[in-house]
Amino acid sequence: QNLIVLYGGRSTEHEVSCRSAKFVLDHLDTSKYELTPIAITKDGRWCLQDIETLRSCTEAVLPIDEAGPDFEQLSLHHGANVDKPVVVFPILHGTFGEDGCTQGFLELKSFAYVGPGVLGSALAMDKIIAKKLVELAGVTVVPYVDFHLSDWKVSSAELLATIEKTLRYPLYVKPCNLGSSVGITKVKAPDQLKAAIEEALTFDDKVLVETGIDAREIEFAVLGGQEPKVSGAGEVVAKKDFYTYASKYEDKDSSDILIPAPLASELVKQGQEIVVKVFKALNLYGLARIDLFLDKASNELYFNEANTLPGFTSISQYPLLWKEAGIDGSKLLDELIQLALD
Ligand code: DAL
Ligand code: MG
Repeated sequence: QNLIVLYGGRSTEHEVSCRSAKFVLDHLDTSKYELTPIAITKDGRWCLQDIETLRSCTEAVLPIDEAGPDFEQLSLHHGANVDKPVVVFPILHGTFGEDGCTQGFLELKSFAYVGPGVLGSALAMDKIIAKKLVELAGVTVVPYVDFHLSDWKVSSAELLATIEKTLRYPLYVKPCNLGSSVGITKVKAPDQLKAAIEEALTFDDKVLVETGIDAREIEFAVLGGQEPKVSGAGEVVAKKDFYTYASKYEDKDSSDILIPAPLASELVKQGQEIVVKVFKALNLYGLARIDLFLDKASNELYFNEANTLPGFTSISQYPLLWKEAGIDGSKLLDELIQLALD
């Protein structure tokens, strides 16, 4: 089986992708796959990497040789025309990798690839559209206000008033499209709100403001097609104010990951049902890590977000949740690659 692993990428999560790619390299059964690693530099060049150099890397983050030959095979060939089918694993997070752009390119070229298609990727990446669709499917979401930069320019005073009227502090202000908590601010008082919105608008033209409920963060891993498997629950316990980019990847002591989450089995079951609804409502396929909130006061579960190419780093929930369910890294990759070919 020919497998192309695409990693790096142009998004703010470039480095996370290099960590995830390391997981893939370490866990892939080498007797089954002929692996071609292609790195995408931060400025968007695709460079073929030397597999032996990558294999000898002992760091958690895979290096990128920017002098690697420009990789033209993907743009010159059709996946359908080669003797052995090629599967592409775009282990890319965030903009251009997880949002349907790469998926569209691979569709044009008839390559099979891991993960959801163009539509599912795009829907899940847009936090606002995702919330609206998930609500339509009958899943509860935290109260929110969303708007575009152009609305903000015309009527910021009105929008601020709407937020004050409809939401409760603390608030979370989020750029619509980024992952790993980049650009997100927790706002505790009205005098910080405007600055937080302006900060989010530097990352994206669309902004989402949500009531920050006092909640536990419960996450599930999904694997499959129309009737996917759902893992048990995991939980992220932030020791700091919230689970920031830094606490995710730089300061390992600032949060704990609990697998399984200490949760009544009835709630786990409810969560699993919600997650399948979300997976279907967003047209997902292959894999997703779906994050929920559990309101500490009411015990109610809310949809938070869906990650269609969740992190595969050594501290990432997606592979850890499957490991807990008896599917180790190598078997997980086999299943994902098989799903790409189905
Ligand atoms: N966006 C990061 C990679 C995650 O969801 O794990
Ligand atoms: Mg995320």
